[in-house]
Amino acid sequence: MKRQARRALVAGNWKMNGLKGSRREVSALARRLGAAAFNPKCDVMVCPPATLVTLLRESAKGSRVKIGAQDCHWNPTGAHTGDVSAEMLKDAGAVSVIVGHSERRSDHGETDGMVNAKAQAAYRAGLGAIICVGETEAERKAGRTLRVIGGQLKGSLPENADARNTVIAYEPVWAIGTGLTPTTDDVAEVHKYIRKRVAALLSDETASKMRILYGGSVKPANADELMAIDNVDGALVGGASLKAADFLGIIAAYL
Ligand code: PGA
Repeated sequence: MKRQARRALVAGNWKMNGLKGSRREVSALARRLGAAAFNPKCDVMVCPPATLVTLLRESAKGSRVKIGAQDCHWNPTGAHTGDVSAEMLKDAGAVSVIVGHSERRSDHGETDGMVNAKAQAAYRAGLGAIICVGETEAERKAGRTLRVIGGQLKGSLPENADARNTVIAYEPVWAIGTGLTPTTDDVAEVHKYIRKRVAALLSDETASKMRILYGGSVKPANADELMAIDNVDGALVGGASLKAADFLGIIAAYL
């Protein structure tokens, strides 16, 4: 299926950043994105830390920039000190939430089963889920990339996932924040494989419509090349999403 059949998504993952400047600077950045991203040929989303969701939602009002979040608990409420539920994120103004990012999997020991439960929590709250998968450097070197990703998809993707409630992000762990990126052939191979696995796990129709993002050291200088690869339907951007000029440079791959 051609890329044009799926509307691209460029999503910024701010991680635990956003207070380097003042709240005024953060909201000015959201406004700048909102104005500059006017009518792009792709959806644009910013996923700040939970404490900034409402501020960014307010700042981006009237623009096409959507606000997402970075993680959620699988329960709606309860005794889970320090956690935030999908319902709370929805209430704060998020429309989507990233689940299963490799930093959550490694820092917090999150398993595919937990990621699956978090994605289902997102659906229950009326949020979309951006489900992340990706191999480590050791796994790639051992030639296990596709097997690892196949296993993560099987475990993390809920049975009721569909192209409207779910986006998949392929993020090789070794490419995140390192400036390294896989070759275009490697990205093409993994994205094609992901679509095939989604077809087997869900259905051909869902697989043909589901967006599969690439993430890991995406920047303006490589966005054109990465975004032109078959089955790449957008980007999940970490470091480069923190500077409006860089993030807009990536969005420009779709203008
Ligand atoms: P990066 O991060 O763009 O800084 O490599 C991507 C991500 O972790 O989503």
